[in-house]
Amino acid sequence: MQIVVAGAAGAVGNKLVSELASGGHSVVGLVHSQDKFTQVEEAGGMPVLADVTDKSTLEDPLSDADVVVFAAGSGGNAVDEVDRDGAINLIDVANEQGVDRFVMLSSMAAGEPERGPDSLRDYLVAKGEADDYLQSSDIEYVIVKPASLTDDGGAGEIQVGAGDSLPSGKIARSDVAKTLSFCATAEGIRDITFEVIEGDEPITDALAFTA
Ligand SMILES: NC(=O)c1ccc[n+]([C@@H]2O[C@H](COP(=O)([O-])OP(=O)(O)OC[C@H]3O[C@@H](n4cnc5c(N)ncnc54)[C@H](OP(=O)(O)O)[C@@H]3O)[C@@H](O)[C@H]2O)c1
Repeated sequence: MQIVVAGAAGAVGNKLVSELASGGHSVVGLVHSQDKFTQVEEAGGMPVLADVTDKSTLEDPLSDADVVVFAAGSGGNAVDEVDRDGAINLIDVANEQGVDRFVMLSSMAAGEPERGPDSLRDYLVAKGEADDYLQSSDIEYVIVKPASLTDDGGAGEIQVGAGDSLPSGKIARSDVAKTLSFCATAEGIRDITFEVIEGDEPITDALAFTA
């Protein structure tokens, strides 16, 4: 399977590239600066220069993709341009190129800014708009909405809220990467949105409901 990861040198994205590559998948890692190439190569991916804010740079890299994952993010500086419109560009190109599945790294409370602090309002609105766009598109989707990300080791155990909101919490980036990897590669999973925090259930057991 060929999987394209946008944000492949990011903290979650780079771990995701490793997970997918070690599972035997061909991984194309999109980065928007050449100095991130080595990081993607060391994780086992093929780096390609592409900027999610420029649709024309996305067409070639997605031309053979089976699955696309949006793990890019603005870091709070250009939320409309990257977190909303960048995601929408990637969804549009994935649709045009006949990609089978789109996996979105979203956020807990995306589209519900009243659940988050004022400082995240614009970000949560932008992420919610990108999620809405994906849900109303023709492509199969999985939207993963993690709580606050940490750099802890990650216990490989999570709690999932599908249909229900979870209490605010945290989750290790490595566990988010494993969750995204499952969502990108598992058979039969489609058109699902869920929140995720650290928990006490092994990731594959917690995600068994998606099949
Ligand atoms: N932080 C949290 O607690 C939290 C909670 C829930 C969800 N999330 C979501 O999870 C996402 C990933 O988190 P993370 O920790 O992995 O963030 P990260 O390390 O900042 O990774 C985001 C990646 O996106 C890349 N990027 C930025 N603009 C781009 C563009 N125009 N085109 C292509 N790539 C671009 C960045 O590259 P450069 O560094 O080179 O700009 C970076 O590698 C966040 O963006 C956020 O939406 C975060």
